[in-house]
Amino acid sequence: MLVIVFHSLTGGTRQMAEAARDGAAAEAGLAVRLLRAGEAAPADVLAADGYIFATPENLASMAGVMKDFFDRCYYPVLDRINGRAYASLICAGSDGEGAARQIARIANGWRLRDVAPPLIVCTRAQTPEEILAPKSIEAADLARCRDVGAAMAAGLVMGVF
Ligand SMILES: Cc1cc2nc3c(=O)[nH]c(=O)nc-3n(C[C@H](O)[C@H](O)[C@H](O)COP(=O)(O)O)c2cc1C
Repeated sequence: MLVIVFHSLTGGTRQMAEAARDGAAAEAGLAVRLLRAGEAAPADVLAADGYIFATPENLASMAGVMKDFFDRCYYPVLDRINGRAYASLICAGSDGEGAARQIARIANGWRLRDVAPPLIVCTRAQTPEEILAPKSIEAADLARCRDVGAAMAAGLVMGVF
């Protein structure tokens, strides 16, 4: 099973996570779950064979709700998910590197295996009005997210991850 854990305030990350879900769902024989970070629990992490973590970058960090997911789940699953595959999707206004770095460090602590570099989509939102406006992710970027989901699903089904 592939679990996609995401948080989104203005919809950008949600669209990215849904695109990854759609890409993964095209692969027969793999269950895919899209979970809001606030609702995801250690049991969900244990039940998965692979993960996609999707978050906005807020204040040079992953979103607080996403961090709370990791805070709640980190120790309950530590040493029980070693070697499983993961990828990350970051929705950012202009940067995204800080959130990507944080997720990579946590995943390293969990001994997960990255199967793709972090995929960062910049919405170019800079002003307060732009930041708070609903986001619409461009088709080319959604296609990249779909590809991450499809590649992750194919690897899990073939048993190469
Ligand atoms: C409180 C707050 C802080 C933010 N800080 C950053 C930041 O440090 N770097 C960045 O690139 N974008 C930053 N942004 C912009 C968001 O990453 C961007 O709007 C993104 O589209 C949000 O994803 P969402 O649509 O899934 O909520 C910030 C947005 C908010 C609301």
